[in-house]
Amino acid sequence: MKERIELVQGDITAMDVDAVVNAANKSLLGGGGVDGAIHRAAGPELPAECRTLGGCDTGDAKITRGYNLKARHVIHTVGPIYRGGVSGEPRLLESCYRRCFEVAHDNSLTSLAFPSISTGAYGYPIEDASGIALSTTLEQLKRFPEIERVVFALFSPSDLAIYEKKLQQL
Ligand code: APR
Repeated sequence: MKERIELVQGDITAMDVDAVVNAANKSLLGGGGVDGAIHRAAGPELPAECRTLGGCDTGDAKITRGYNLKARHVIHTVGPIYRGGVSGEPRLLESCYRRCFEVAHDNSLTSLAFPSISTGAYGYPIEDASGIALSTTLEQLKRFPEIERVVFALFSPSDLAIYEKKLQQL
């Protein structure tokens, strides 16, 4: 299973995969961080399609086209805002990853790129978030054997090192 997971340091908008995952907010109308980068790279048709989706609940995921991105699609998911970890954040973060795999499966996609969901503006400690991200990914790769490649695009050397350590422990 682990051979289907790649951990890289880089900008998710450069990833050549069937879908990049966007760490969005509930409006789906853009923002900063990954959301800002993906909207900038995809161009104005992305928010136009997002406006037809009627937003997205925390823990859920919705798909659009990728427009000017290399990736054919964007799967938008809304991570939990971290409030101490005792308001259901772990379950909601796990749900983000699971729903992205389900949406990929429903659309016959075979390669995905994830950012480190919720660990930026939403304040989720990356030590905990990376464990949830990777354990959920391993579980979903068992469930969906047709998904051949999952890339985690980490934005800093320290984030990459945390994910590498965590993956070795799983
Ligand atoms: N490629 C890959 N990773 C990136 C990029 C990029 N271009 N830009 C930022 N990151 C990293 C951040 O360093 C962080 O580790 O993605 C992780 C998630 O950070 P955020 O983008 O802030 O996402 P999140 O914490 O889920 O907060 C979402 O921020 O941008 C708004 O509209 C968004 O309200 C939503 C909130």
